[in-house]
Amino acid sequence: MFRPTSKIIVALIASCVVALPVAHSAETEKSAQKTVLITGANRGIGLGFAQVYAKRGWRVIATTRDPAQATELAQLAASNADFSVARLDVASAQDVAVLAAALRGQPIDLLINNAGISGNIRSQSPGKMDLESFGTVLAVNTIGPLRVAEALLPNVVASQDKKIVNISTSEASFGMDGGPGRIPFYRASKSALNMLMLNYAKMVTDRGVTVLLVNPGPVDTDMMKGARMKLESVESAVGQMITVIDKASPADNGKFFNLDGQVLPW
Ligand SMILES: NC(=O)c1ccc[n+]([C@@H]2O[C@H](COP(=O)([O-])OP(=O)(O)OC[C@H]3O[C@@H](n4cnc5c(N)ncnc54)[C@H](OP(=O)(O)O)[C@@H]3O)[C@@H](O)[C@H]2O)c1
Repeated sequence: MFRPTSKIIVALIASCVVALPVAHSAETEKSAQKTVLITGANRGIGLGFAQVYAKRGWRVIATTRDPAQATELAQLAASNADFSVARLDVASAQDVAVLAAALRGQPIDLLINNAGISGNIRSQSPGKMDLESFGTVLAVNTIGPLRVAEALLPNVVASQDKKIVNISTSEASFGMDGGPGRIPFYRASKSALNMLMLNYAKMVTDRGVTVLLVNPGPVDTDMMKGARMKLESVESAVGQMITVIDKASPADNGKFFNLDGQVLPW
């Protein structure tokens, strides 16, 4: 299996010091190993993706807002030369630019735009709507994925698989809307993500890139703490989503998938 021979020090800003493996020179080995970059990989669904792709022997670039606090990622990196941790706040143009510069020329087969926030629930109710908070939710859930996709598009285009996966939610679907009004900032930010990525998919199709939106369903993570509903384990949800991602071909570009592979209504 391909093992990187050296590491480069990436970050130029003080809190952004990360080591990323450099692509190996042997062409044949390089083409055999795939690379995934995951945002928000320090916990929840993002950590689940990082663990599974590491087990599969992929080169994993796990990004997190605070590498110093990401103990699980540090452990994975300590035991696996193909696992690296990089600082990335998806709402920070500077972070994204620094990471993209560090990765210039390195193919990324799969970019998973996973990082997301629901926003403070109390700030999303009538009479208490906090529009600044809405701006933050949009910055992370909607603009962040596009910012990362744009910055890393050359890396994705240079890869074999050329996939960009955005973790959306069925809560973003107009077709599936039902029940009482709830978390409008979160839901609107993900509806906007869906429309944004549907159009992005159409615009990058001639470069061979496949852009997907995937609904993980209700998953037992910090985001769902206190939710009164049946929650799927991270392992199960991530396993099912990876099956969808594996199966996806360019013919699926721009589709909104449920974790079980069904196409969801917008
Ligand atoms: N859990 C569910 O039931 C469910 C259902 C539908 C969709 N989703 C979606 O699945 C994705 C993952 O959610 P989760 O359930 O795993 O939530 P989670 O446990 O709360 O994890 C969220 C992750 O996003 C990161 N993050 C937040 N703001 C960020 C920023 N500005 N830049 C970079 N990373 C940031 C967090 O990092 P920090 O630790 O630094 O905060 C954390 O790693 C989200 O997009 C969410 O909307 C989840």
